[in-house]
Amino acid sequence: MSVGIDEISFYTSNYYLDLKTLAEVQGTDPEKYYTGIGQEKMGMAAPDEDIVTMASSAALPLIERVGPEAVSTLLFATETGIDQSKAAGIYVHRLLGLSSNCRVVELKQACYSATAALQMACALVARKPDCKVLVIASDIARYDLDTPGEATQGCGAVAMLIASNPRLVSIDPEVGNHTEDVMDFWRPNYRSTALVDGKYSTKIYLKALKKAWDNFRDVSDLAFGDFSRFCYHLPFSRMAQKAHQQLVRHNKVGLSADEQEAQISDTLLYNRIIGNSYTASMYIGLTSLLENTEEDLSGKRIGFFSYGSGCVGEFFSGTVVAGYREALHTEYHQALLAARREIEHDEYLQLYRNQVPADGGEHRFAEGTTGRFRLAGIAHHKREYVIC
Ligand code: CAA
Repeated sequence: MSVGIDEISFYTSNYYLDLKTLAEVQGTDPEKYYTGIGQEKMGMAAPDEDIVTMASSAALPLIERVGPEAVSTLLFATETGIDQSKAAGIYVHRLLGLSSNCRVVELKQACYSATAALQMACALVARKPDCKVLVIASDIARYDLDTPGEATQGCGAVAMLIASNPRLVSIDPEVGNHTEDVMDFWRPNYRSTALVDGKYSTKIYLKALKKAWDNFRDVSDLAFGDFSRFCYHLPFSRMAQKAHQQLVRHNKVGLSADEQEAQISDTLLYNRIIGNSYTASMYIGLTSLLENTEEDLSGKRIGFFSYGSGCVGEFFSGTVVAGYREALHTEYHQALLAARREIEHDEYLQLYRNQVPADGGEHRFAEGTTGRFRLAGIAHHKREYVIC
């Protein structure tokens, strides 16, 4: 019996800022963003959108297919937590009408926690092969204005159904990890934007990749040449290119630049126009790979490197299942991305400056999202969600 990803779907906001607009306002060469960091557009959450509404929208197509009673556990990964106590997934549980017998928990370790959720879900399914576990990763990436991180914002959520004999990707049990207490990127409880030591964070990412890979090689029989494609955590597309170049060098593999690029390029297409979605980004990258690669990937091995600042890195592997294309939501995702509206810089600033009111009063939020779920308001410190 194999265990892994049976179905995958993502959601992002209907607003985006083109990074050439940001570059123009900043007096920066747009090529710094388009080529230098490999990003074109960044998603901006609507005023009535948060990690719960995005997560619910991401999971809806999956739940519509299997039915709400089918899910035994919901694991919700995020680093944009909305409550120190209550798991954001509880709201999603209600909005999707999941069974009261379905357990829900939230996981945190920066951008890595969706991978912890995936591995835990696989373990639950291995123990009880009839069950289906819903893993959702949902985040809004925010940095201070006029900082190097500003161009790497974004927002998105991904939902994955983990099951036995999956239709998309079977996940191998062997993993390589690297954990180290470092301050490369963090967000103290009293801040709404992340603090980051940008250049240092990229160095730590690369170090964690090398260490996690070495640990993976200790526990797995697989070598670099067994992999057809690689999915990396995607804070920005260039990071994956740098990571892959390093992995190729580390393994002393003789691949041309074009051959290296071909192993990752299809994973970058969606993130390049969505921006960083933290926990969701690598799995949106996987969706991009499966939905955009012309070659039939059936039976091909994929290497995954998941990274969460602070830091935890994990390298693991999976194999694409024959017939996977039948289980994809390609048209739905491409229509979602095509229907987004470009915003100008002043509208971007308005959306950016939307703060969650903390005074306990009654607040209604302007309608902005075109998704199926809205954060209609907050009253007496309670979030009020509606289904549109
Ligand atoms: N044309 C083409 N390329 C240009 C250019 C131009 N006109 N101008 C600059 N560039 C290139 C630079 O040469 C550089 O390329 P290399 O990295 O290959 O040298 C690239 O564009 C970036 O330029 P800078 O180094 O000057 O960029 P910066 O210092 O302004 O910002 C950053 C880069 C530090 C990554 C910044 O975007 C940042 O702080 N981002 C947030 C942190 C982050 O994402 N870290 C990633 C690892 S941590 C992680 O992965 C967790 C997470 O999700 C946050």
